[in-house]
Amino acid sequence: MSIQEDIQQLQKELAHHAYLYYVKDAPIISDYDYDVLYRKLVELETAHPEYIVPTSPTQRVGAKVEGSFEKVVHGQRMLSLSNVFDDAEVEQFGVRCEKELGHAPQYVVELKIDGLAVNLHYENGLFVRAVTRGDGRVGEDVTANVKTIQSIPLIIDNAPPFIEIRGEAYMPHKEFKRINEEREEAGLQTFVNPRNAAAGSLRQQDPAITASRNLDFFAYAIGSSEGSNIHTQQELLEQLEAFKFHVNPHYKVCQSIAEVVEHIHYWDVERHNLPYDTDGMVIKVNDFEDQETLGTTAKDPKWATAFKYPPEEVETIVKDITINVGRTGVLTPTAELESVFVSGTNVSRATLHNEDFIKEKDIRIGDTVRIHKAAEIIPEVISVVVDKRKSDSVPYEMPNACPVCESPTVRREGEVAIYCSNEHCPAVEKEGIIHFASRDAMNIDGLGPSIVEALVTNHRIETVVDLYHLKEEDITSLERMGKKSAQNLLKAIDDSKQRGLGRVLFGLGIRLIGAKAGQTIAKYFTSIDSLMNATIDELTNIDEIGPTMAKSLVEYFGNERNRQLIEGLRHAGVRLEEEVQEAAGNELEGQIIVLTGKLTSMGRSEAGAILEAHGAKVTGSVSKKTTLVIAGDDAGSKLTKAEQLGIPVMDEQGLLDLIKDF
Ligand code: IVH
Repeated sequence: MSIQEDIQQLQKELAHHAYLYYVKDAPIISDYDYDVLYRKLVELETAHPEYIVPTSPTQRVGAKVEGSFEKVVHGQRMLSLSNVFDDAEVEQFGVRCEKELGHAPQYVVELKIDGLAVNLHYENGLFVRAVTRGDGRVGEDVTANVKTIQSIPLIIDNAPPFIEIRGEAYMPHKEFKRINEEREEAGLQTFVNPRNAAAGSLRQQDPAITASRNLDFFAYAIGSSEGSNIHTQQELLEQLEAFKFHVNPHYKVCQSIAEVVEHIHYWDVERHNLPYDTDGMVIKVNDFEDQETLGTTAKDPKWATAFKYPPEEVETIVKDITINVGRTGVLTPTAELESVFVSGTNVSRATLHNEDFIKEKDIRIGDTVRIHKAAEIIPEVISVVVDKRKSDSVPYEMPNACPVCESPTVRREGEVAIYCSNEHCPAVEKEGIIHFASRDAMNIDGLGPSIVEALVTNHRIETVVDLYHLKEEDITSLERMGKKSAQNLLKAIDDSKQRGLGRVLFGLGIRLIGAKAGQTIAKYFTSIDSLMNATIDELTNIDEIGPTMAKSLVEYFGNERNRQLIEGLRHAGVRLEEEVQEAAGNELEGQIIVLTGKLTSMGRSEAGAILEAHGAKVTGSVSKKTTLVIAGDDAGSKLTKAEQLGIPVMDEQGLLDLIKDF
């Protein structure tokens, strides 16, 4: 295979694995193997930039876009939808369709995803442009940002010369929660709901930021398309699936309007269990000919409508406002509520985010408030029912002293958060240790919040370094901790020493450095020593690291106390290095291997990448220097040559046995 073919093969393989991972949610290779393949492609493309194509998986995150987003006219107008609000209105919609058509049509009912409509342009099967809905006629070019959405295929097979694919870009609840938690900790304004967060993410000048927000996309329509041969909405959805788009699986073809109503009732309850926001259901007449007969008004199609569920808002009383001090020293206010039932569960607390949120809504202790669930999971105060306010109520003031250590609190310039000014605040130390032990950080099994709390209160530990010097008696002296649990915990703590630099970096709780950034930085610098001395410029050399993250790292390592903590970890035997992937093991050092023939369990380049990751050199042709030939099915001249030269030959099973123990 030529280098160009190698590159193309890898691009294809990676796109396929991304599809299995992001769209089908059924990966067949590990993240590690994916990373190995990806790196291999990056290496080949760096050596041969002439073979980089815009649709390569390595090209999803592009350079910053300067200036405003360009205006683009849609090939076909992007219509909006009329609304219906109850069963009777759904039935009326059915009656109208039936009357105008002269027969009862089939309907397709889909979830109405609460995100932003985006129009994707494909030319000869290649993704070329993404445009927001705008006013329906003209939208904005957000190509660079939409390209970072991993579930959107950059190449579609068997596509017409030009096609517009439409759907909803949205932020899953998990991401919304993660991002808001990070923002809250960093003293930044949180997003109100996933839709706003998605909108903000698509309007970034830097696609790297959009990429870090992990948006997703559900395709549900086709705009203009040359030579398409689709007759129904159902076929359209199937076609979109065949193009390998993420299509929401919860659509239903209904034979009658009664079935439509039933489906809508079902989702009224079930929608609370979805991992993303919906704001209703969309009812579409299935048959395209019927759609054409019904036509459109100036704004909306007459063949479709949106059912809107009533907003789930309830009233309750703010019994108290409590303050929690987090890992970064931020004071977060929480409303303690009279318990009420909303969107499927009982709610008795709601975050009030920060001082500005409370001031803006003027939330006071004793107030009656309206609440709902943001992103179906997070209870939030919408507004105060001022009419029900008691005459003696007073505006709420955030405390001037930390509720844990009583040090003065401060509000930093440009931030919404109020901090405890004491770096050694016990609350900060405790939360820091809980975070260090958490699953995505050092993953210390059994070291949860209550044990950390007990260890800190009993003065057994102050910092994470102390964890590694704990003795059995320190633990057994705590309530409800027997000898066996103590031994298990000590073993878990000891095991955590081997987690590697990426997890340590995340575990240290450096501002703005999440689990993923920790891994990226660790892979780049490979040891804490080079990282500790890195400059902002060196740090921002890493694609995913922006100037604010770099500044946060430099500040962290510039602090003497943090340096001491790291030395403490080093002395305790915590591994502060990250293995580069080639060093996954050097079992095959010195081997020169040729792969030939067809492999059934993996692609040839995948096999090559694994062998190289373990120190082998993989070459394309057999010579005297070759030490091993791996021959799959239908191997030809390379196999013959190996036999002539007396070079050892191995079949696919041999290869699998060889790499099995790596
Ligand atoms: S179809 C002509 N299907 O709802 C039909 N829209 O209020 C156009 N939306 O702008 C849209 N999920 O952003 C359709 N399954 C779905 C949808 C959906 C969400 C959004 C879309 C549209 C808005 C209309």
